[in-house]
Amino acid sequence: MQQTSISNPIGIFDSGVGGLSVLRAIHRQLPHESIIYLADQANVPYGSRSLEQVRQFSERITRFLLKQNAKIIVVACNTASAAALIYLRQVFPNVSFVGMEPAVKPAAESSQSGVVGVLATPATFQGALYASVIERFAQGVTVLQHTCPGLVTQIEAGHLDTEETRAILLDALQPMIAQGIDTIVLGCTHYPFVIPIIQEIVGPKVNVIDPAPAVARQVERVLTANNLLQKNSQTGLVQYITTADPQIMKALLPMLIGETADVACVSWNSDNELTW
Ligand code: DGL
Repeated sequence: MQQTSISNPIGIFDSGVGGLSVLRAIHRQLPHESIIYLADQANVPYGSRSLEQVRQFSERITRFLLKQNAKIIVVACNTASAAALIYLRQVFPNVSFVGMEPAVKPAAESSQSGVVGVLATPATFQGALYASVIERFAQGVTVLQHTCPGLVTQIEAGHLDTEETRAILLDALQPMIAQGIDTIVLGCTHYPFVIPIIQEIVGPKVNVIDPAPAVARQVERVLTANNLLQKNSQTGLVQYITTADPQIMKALLPMLIGETADVACVSWNSDNELTW
């Protein structure tokens, strides 16, 4: 049993450790803010689940984070954003949300070759959010898309640079390279952890876009607009929580974000609610 003692944190969630790429950027951008991070590792990966199921997880996790006094919710998961962001804003009209959408806009604006690649999960590509991003921002560019089956599981296992991880990425990237991409959008928050391998495969001339810094700036804008920015100058506390074995996440923290910290555990109960 471990309850948070952090006051008014930024609440962040993902299916697993992918959202740590967003947490890292938020912590750099807003070092005085405290953060509560929930990884739903009991249910990872989300990307092959139905949008309806991901929406249910997202609603319940949001409820849990709000109970811990989160002052804003960052949906640090493209899949959950695709499945649930609009719904969450309806269900919790008084709560500020920041979500993820594939960064097709900056990619289309900066591409010289006019061919852009997007890597994301099947659920993200199915959602209305992706369709709307393509419709709004991809005029005049060719957007190639590819899922990376198994990649989230590899990253959750800490297998960042293994034969299997490379094989998954080669499979996704080679057809894109053959068609002349000069920009890759990472449409899943797990993927920034394998940027070195992606860059090695695509070569130094292809621009790989990690959206996390832009999302962190958006969190700052939303907190500022709502007068919710932390005023004191102490470094914020970060609490890590998982719905699975905390030792597994604890072992991944140094590898992924260079942090050593304890990880607390919450469980899904029979009413599908999260409890300490
Ligand atoms: N990190 C997630 C995303 O951004 C979820 C991946 C998954 O669980 O399949 O889509």
